[in-house]
Amino acid sequence: MLIGADYYPEHWPRKRWPLDARLMRRAGLRVVRMAEFAWNRLEPREGRYDFAWLDEAMKHLGKCGIRVVLATPSAAPTAWQAAKWPDLLPVKADGSMWPFGIRRHYCPRHKGYRDACRRMADALGKHFGRNPQVLGWQIDNEFGGVDCSGACYCPRCVREWRAWLQQRYGTLEALNEAWGTAFWAQEYTAWDQVVAPAEPVTHQNPSLVLDWRRFSSEAFLEFQQVQADALRARVHGQWISTNFMGQYEDLDYDALAAPLDLAGWDNYPIWSPDPVDPALGHAITRGLKQKNFWVFERPSGPSGWNAMTGLPRPGQIRMWTWQSIGHGADAVLYFRWRACRFGAGQYWHGILGHDGDPGRRYDEVRRTAAEVARLSKILDGTGVRVPAALWHTYDGNWAVRFQPGWDKMRLWDEAKRYARALARRGVACDVVTPRADLRRYRLIICPHAVLLKPEHAESLRKFAAAGGTVVFTPRSGERTGSNIITGAPRPGLLRPLAGCRVTEYDMVSPEKPGQVEMAATGRLYDSFGWCDLLRSEGAKTVAAYAADFYEGTPAVTVNRIGRGRVYYVGVSAEAAFYDDLLEHLAEEVRIPRLEPLPPGVEVLERRGRAAGKTAARRILIIVNYSGEPRAANIGVKGRNLLARGTLGPTVELEPYGVRVLKV
Ligand code: GLA
Repeated sequence: MLIGADYYPEHWPRKRWPLDARLMRRAGLRVVRMAEFAWNRLEPREGRYDFAWLDEAMKHLGKCGIRVVLATPSAAPTAWQAAKWPDLLPVKADGSMWPFGIRRHYCPRHKGYRDACRRMADALGKHFGRNPQVLGWQIDNEFGGVDCSGACYCPRCVREWRAWLQQRYGTLEALNEAWGTAFWAQEYTAWDQVVAPAEPVTHQNPSLVLDWRRFSSEAFLEFQQVQADALRARVHGQWISTNFMGQYEDLDYDALAAPLDLAGWDNYPIWSPDPVDPALGHAITRGLKQKNFWVFERPSGPSGWNAMTGLPRPGQIRMWTWQSIGHGADAVLYFRWRACRFGAGQYWHGILGHDGDPGRRYDEVRRTAAEVARLSKILDGTGVRVPAALWHTYDGNWAVRFQPGWDKMRLWDEAKRYARALARRGVACDVVTPRADLRRYRLIICPHAVLLKPEHAESLRKFAAAGGTVVFTPRSGERTGSNIITGAPRPGLLRPLAGCRVTEYDMVSPEKPGQVEMAATGRLYDSFGWCDLLRSEGAKTVAAYAADFYEGTPAVTVNRIGRGRVYYVGVSAEAAFYDDLLEHLAEEVRIPRLEPLPPGVEVLERRGRAAGKTAARRILIIVNYSGEPRAANIGVKGRNLLARGTLGPTVELEPYGVRVLKV
């Protein structure tokens, strides 16, 4: 278990560095991440690498027992690079260029820059790849990012786009067929007639828009791979990772994570009053490798660009840290060690303010790091094993975003409706893609699986046949991989699995909701969104619409498949509906669960065996994400690891309180 910070020695005079290292040691920080925006200092003139300053900073850190994660600096090309390659800057959909200096200002397909990145990764790997102080590597910084949209529309990209399509489809006939270009006279008779979609994408061919997103995402995959290969050839015993952004959805994180050793993310819970947001980000990151991960950034002060959030309240930094550990983080690094005096990030405060003097936030970090260090022995080697997973594909999510169907349909929102209900019962879930090993789960929920390949349907069928429970939600099985509607009766490929047919669908606003009634209890719930009207073809009705002209029509069905079950939940609804549905499901799926937890309280669990021991350790981490006192029934008693004595089954928590128990 490591606590650390993001450190930018290049922003401060050298004479400050030894003091920084000593203050870090006093705070209990054991790792820093460095250099992700320091290309200008690492190669001040073309071909003249200078790593001496980094050696010097690392020497001071090393004296204080602080390890290092090094980043490749490709997220911010230098001024000399931008001047050397006028075509380096990425181009927006409207044809204008992103300016120099915003960061991420590079076209990921620029050959010269890719080569420069390869050489930089090679040089860094050569210099630091055997240094035991270096634990691992972060490639680039927040691929895609918020500054540029994750796609470049320059003439080179458009040329390569056509070659990519040629490769993918072989012939224009195949492309015309796959994209349905019969619509609006779009049939292409030469490859160079195909253009990149303009923004906004409304009214453009949905198949073209989806393939363009795939193509744009692949550019970053290749860009990352160039650096990963260069580092791999040089480093010994050091991992390679990158910092993802949780619910960010412009790039295929699944593909990006596959060649990495470790997943990591930047977690900014300061934006969200609802713990389900950071919880989902953690679940996404954990699901990418189905194992523990790192938090590379985490706010530690008022944050924002030109306008800021408020201060983290006393206890909040500590609570966020434990929340991450509870979700499977093996390291948490605070952004940033010290607030910078200049540049666009001036208001992104750190553990220290601009003046560099330790204050309240430093003290809280110090206390947190001390308690994490104290419990490291018991936490090291434990992981998060959850019974449930949310299953999705990135391209399926893109298809939903371009054409939500119901204007507020968002895949992550639907995912959160289920995740929130599970969390209320003390059950966490992973977020996974088809690449994941599904055998470790008992329940798989597929939010808006609009774009489904036959092999996906088959693996979910197998999962159910072997005794698992699968839940599909509105609009499932609607499209083919090239984003055209299958034309088969809905839910298409899933019809035999779900044992029902969608006859029609309605769009209902949450402001004027409809109603569904649970068959077993007669309970009514407000319902809204894309509402699939179902007709059973063997499935049993779980809930039916209770309003409008389709009153009595099934809204939720369940079908037996082998030893398991497949639910089709054709509607979105108020929170109580998911609570009750999951209550019912949990029983079937034999998921142990708690009494409903009060709002903001999460009960998280890490378990595992210590080396040489047979009994598994079970550590419960209970956090109160809210600013109000809470009492939660956690169903068990355990040894209080943060203080003396035992705790439970009722646990009282102060605002932003944390309890850690061994049960
Ligand atoms: C991101 C980036 C950091 C910094 C923080 C806060 O997570 O990775 O470089 O900009 O946001 O702005």
